[in-house]
Amino acid sequence: MSKISRESSLRYWDNAHREYKRENIMYDDWLESFDEMIMNCKKPILDLGCGSGNDTKYLIEKGKEVISCDQSQNAINNIKKNFPEVKDAICFNMLDGIPFEDASFEVIIADLCLHYFDEEDTKAIVSEIRRILMPGGHLIFRVNSVKDVAHGAGQGPEVERHVFEMEGKEIKRFFDEDDVRRFFGDFEFEYLNEEIMTRYQKSKPLFKVCARKI
Ligand SMILES: C[S@@+](CC[C@H](N)C(=O)[O-])C[C@H]1O[C@@H](n2cnc3c(N)ncnc32)[C@H](O)[C@@H]1O
Repeated sequence: MSKISRESSLRYWDNAHREYKRENIMYDDWLESFDEMIMNCKKPILDLGCGSGNDTKYLIEKGKEVISCDQSQNAINNIKKNFPEVKDAICFNMLDGIPFEDASFEVIIADLCLHYFDEEDTKAIVSEIRRILMPGGHLIFRVNSVKDVAHGAGQGPEVERHVFEMEGKEIKRFFDEDDVRRFFGDFEFEYLNEEIMTRYQKSKPLFKVCARKI
């Protein structure tokens, strides 16, 4: 990723994550489909790109141990303040690698945080996620669909196929099913479906996926 889009992304998200309270954090029910897997997970669950902590909150309410991570220090400060139950909250940029040992996690959640990268960076991040998952472990994620025109699909300069530059210079990828299968081809898909998320003001078509490390 160019230095400009990396800095723009951090500026955008640090600004978005300035201040909020736990009671205002609303999750949707997308993880319910994977409740059995989540409840059976014996290790801490990693919430990658946790943002304000929608999924962290869901997991904590299920009584799970959670490690929440984001590039934004503001997001991490808020997680620590709002969710003192988290096992850890760590600030790092996935573009620099994911700072955990090989095979550390049984379940990783990556909700709406894997679609900000060009081809090379996406492949590197997916490979890092595979590395830190134990064999048979699961990556549960959601990514933008190419149908998500309300959130920028097909708009602005296309810097790479299905990747568009936003006004602030950060980039967003919009996946079709082939993209999902290509980037996550080293996994076995246990669930892959295009759905509509209604958590935002405008409804959002996206891919919801559960992929197993083989
Ligand atoms: C749309 S928000 C999703 C937040 C949360 N997972 C949710 O669904 O509510 C995207 C998050 O990904 C984080 N993110 C984007 N690029 C990142 C990177 N390179 N490294 C770490 N976090 C990143 C952003 O800071 C932001 O908090």
